[in-house]
Amino acid sequence: NRPKITVIGSINMDLVTETMVIPKTGETVIGKHFSMIPGGKGANQAVATARLGAEVRMIGCVGDDPFGKELISHLKKQGVIIDNIEVITGLTTGTATITVSKGDNSIIVIPGANIALTPEKIELLEDVIAKSDIVLLQLEIPLETVMKAAEIAKKYKIPVILNPAPIKPLPDQLIHLIDYITPNEHELMYFFDSSVEDLHSFMKRRGSQFIVTKGEDGVYFYQDGELIHIPGYSVDVVDTTGAGDSFNGALAVGLSKGLDLKEACKYGNAVGALSVTKFGAQNGMPTQIEVEQFLRTRGEEKI
Ligand code: RIB
Ligand code: NA
Repeated sequence: NRPKITVIGSINMDLVTETMVIPKTGETVIGKHFSMIPGGKGANQAVATARLGAEVRMIGCVGDDPFGKELISHLKKQGVIIDNIEVITGLTTGTATITVSKGDNSIIVIPGANIALTPEKIELLEDVIAKSDIVLLQLEIPLETVMKAAEIAKKYKIPVILNPAPIKPLPDQLIHLIDYITPNEHELMYFFDSSVEDLHSFMKRRGSQFIVTKGEDGVYFYQDGELIHIPGYSVDVVDTTGAGDSFNGALAVGLSKGLDLKEACKYGNAVGALSVTKFGAQNGMPTQIEVEQFLRTRGEEKI
């Protein structure tokens, strides 16, 4: 019984430059290595869930260029259902120019065809959303589209996870429609008015709606008025790109398999940890068996 997950989001080609030194403005340095690898927060999350055994549908747009073709065939090979990915004439496929230096990264995204994923397109796919066990959203597509997807999911009582990345202020109207919002520490700052209340009273008020990710430290949320900390795993970090996507994909799989939130977050932490041990956003995203092996080596029960 595979969980049915629908990911609505971005598809990018990652143009990754590895370098020891990051140049300052006006400076030129010689880097180490260049690679083009499939990415995009939406596509990454779709691949994460596919590797864990979910039946995943990706709704998204690419341009009518070689990157678009390559990314669609890559997703198909990963086991993602691609029937609802549209090729947009006259637009370029989304790209992310990524600099990786000593395991840390900085990213510039050019949305390209991702902006063509309009609310109208989502309306036409209402039945796809209605048949899902869970819907996964991020913020690399137009905000109105995220809104429309959340509205339709709400209509059918399908749980929604919103990974609020990259950072963007969100209307309250949207926040109300979402079951789980998964900011990292920086993104979290966008959600509350620090002049009115402190961070913890904000999180407490929101309860388990807000799951805050802190990398290796793990995740935090409030439940029944208590702060819950689900510790992460320390691993040898090669590349943190896509760690958040891995966590969110796993959270979706865990919740749709009926794990409770604590267990699902633990599962997400394990998947996120494994993903950073390999170079590239999607490399290192583990299969279900690899997650179980990893947890066993850490002396933990399988989930
Ligand atoms: O979350 C990582 C992703 O962000 C990269 O794959 C890149 O495409 C950007 O969208
Ligand atoms: Na990786």
